[in-house]
Amino acid sequence: MEYAAKITGTGSAFPQNRVSNIDISEKLALSGIETNDSWIRERTGIAERRMSMPGNSEEHNSSLGLAAAWNALKMAEKTPLDIDQIIYSTCTPDTILPSTACWLQHKLGAAKAWGMDLNAACSGFIYGLSIADQFICSGKAKTTLVIGAEVLSSIINWSDRSSCILFGDGAGAAVVERTQATSDQRILSTHLLSDGALWEMLHVPAGGSALPATPEIALQHLNKIQMNGREIFKVAVRTLSSFALKALKKNQMTVDMLDWFIPHQANFRIIEAVAKRLNLPMEKVLINVDRYGNTSSATVPTMLDEAVRDGRIQKGQTVLLDAFGAGLTYGSVLLRW
Ligand code: UT7
Repeated sequence: MEYAAKITGTGSAFPQNRVSNIDISEKLALSGIETNDSWIRERTGIAERRMSMPGNSEEHNSSLGLAAAWNALKMAEKTPLDIDQIIYSTCTPDTILPSTACWLQHKLGAAKAWGMDLNAACSGFIYGLSIADQFICSGKAKTTLVIGAEVLSSIINWSDRSSCILFGDGAGAAVVERTQATSDQRILSTHLLSDGALWEMLHVPAGGSALPATPEIALQHLNKIQMNGREIFKVAVRTLSSFALKALKKNQMTVDMLDWFIPHQANFRIIEAVAKRLNLPMEKVLINVDRYGNTSSATVPTMLDEAVRDGRIQKGQTVLLDAFGAGLTYGSVLLRW
């Protein structure tokens, strides 16, 4: 029997606390750093983002992942005991040990599943879907929970005005199930690539075993995000476009055959430039960066969930998921809903 994988349920969850550009401007002003609402809107398209309340266990990474997972399970009409594997994409885990996948498994009661964390930064959900697809197609798994969840507020570098305005917290989840290889609704293809040579463009130097965080390190913000925004911008436009074209070529499709495009939501201007390169009308591009900022591996699954729930994505439509992230990492998934 030959198998394919399809997404049967999606879910998302965000912290309560909305942080506007004005809130950020006021926070930075306390340290003598200038920014303003119109600069942030014009250069990024972001109006607000959500941030977990430090110390509120309801808004820990695994708690956001849990709420997203319940929503996805409900849509798929599955119970936690139906899940046989959990792929949890995050670069902001609850703890180094155990994995956030294990925290989630415990909280969800998914006692028959194995689980692991996956760190491919903003491409993580796409990497996770690809792993789920491989396990399901090989017959090793039947029902997988793929999660992309982040509490990026824990690693925001508040001394860097070009990066601190970008990030937010949130979680998206998908239930991925076995279907027949001939099924119309399925994951059509996945493409992944990493380029570790470009590590310096977006990294957190300290807090790992190479450079454990100390009070001195923290004073230099080395346990927080360091980013070369201008350079990443260029790589992002180039690679999002090329990974979209790779997916289409593999399936002998052209851009006009796409119903929806869900790119990683890092900056509205990146998304617009990619759509222009692909000759794809903006009406087919799904965008939530204005309301949530860049939530790393949560951007693609939360956007997918929103568009499935509000009826924009309809059965039989072709949807392209596309991302880039720290690493650098790249990937795309083409699927028929
Ligand atoms: O998941 C991947 C994560 N990262 C990304 O995708 C980042 C991609 N890059 C970007 O989104 C953009 O490059 C940024 C939003 C980070 C920056 O936008 P930009 O249009 O590339 O601005 P820039 O870095 O070229 O800076 C232009 C000016 C500079 O001032 P001068 O040198 O021209 O006087 C910056 O200092 O804007 C200044 N600037 C700001 N001004 C007000 C930088 N950040 C701010 C700010 N508020 N927050």
